[in-house]
Amino acid sequence: MSKQFRIAPSILSADFAKLGQEITDVIASGADIIHFDVMDNHYVPNLTIGPLVCQAIRPLTDAIIDVHLMVKPVDRIIPDFAKAGANIITFHPEGSEHIDRSLALIKDQGCKAGLVFNPATPLDYMDHVMDKLDMVLLMSVNPGFGGQKFIPQALEKLKQARAKIDAYTEKTGREIWLEIDGGVNTANIAEIARAGADTFVAGSALFGAPQATDPHRYDTIVAALRAELAKV
Ligand code: DX5
Ligand code: ZN
Repeated sequence: MSKQFRIAPSILSADFAKLGQEITDVIASGADIIHFDVMDNHYVPNLTIGPLVCQAIRPLTDAIIDVHLMVKPVDRIIPDFAKAGANIITFHPEGSEHIDRSLALIKDQGCKAGLVFNPATPLDYMDHVMDKLDMVLLMSVNPGFGGQKFIPQALEKLKQARAKIDAYTEKTGREIWLEIDGGVNTANIAEIARAGADTFVAGSALFGAPQATDPHRYDTIVAALRAELAKV
C-alpha cells in the first residue's frame, strides 16, 4: 500500500463571494483538509481572514481545518482560532517571542500544533520542540500570496525535514505530518512527495483551474493530483 498523502486546498484562491460552496465542493471532490491562510499585513504584506470566517465555515465540513498563521505576534489570536473550530494551528517561529510557549498554548486549547519554515528559515527551530509538534510546514514560496512559483531548494529542505521527523518517529512512535505550501501543481507534486512531503497545500492550481459551475468542478484536478501521487 502506498503512503498516505493528504491534499489541502488553500481557500486563499477560492471565490470568497461563495466561500461556503467552494469548501463543500472541494471536499466533495476528494480533498482532505481545508488550509486556512491568515495574514495580518504586518508579518506578511497581505491581509486575509480571521476567526470569524473560520467559525462560519466550521459547520460546513468535518474535514480538518488547518490554520496557517502568518501573523505577529501569534499568542493573542491562538485561543480565538481554537474556539472557532480550528483543528491544526501552525505559526512561523519569527512570529513568536517564545516558540515553546506558543506551541504549548495551541496544545492547551486542544488543537494540533505546528511550525512553519520560510524558504530561508533554518530547520533547527524544530529540534528542541519535537514533542510538541504535530505538523511541520515548509514554505516553498515566500509567504503572503497565492500563485507564486515553487522554489526548488525546498526539495532538499524537505529531505532534511523528513530525516529529522523519521528519526523522531522511530524513537517515539509519534507521527508528525510534513506539509508543503506554495506553488504545488500536477507537474511537481510527485517530485515533492518523493522528497518527503505527505500533505500538500494547493491554492491556485486547484481553485484557479478552468471551471465549470457544477458542484463536481474540482473532481478532475483533485483526481489529477492523486494520480500523480499514486506514481510515487
Ligand atoms: C502563501 C500561502 C499559501 C498559498 C498557496 O503565503 O501560505 O497557502 O495560498 O497558494 P498556491 O498554491 O497558489 O501557491
Ligand atoms: Zn498557507
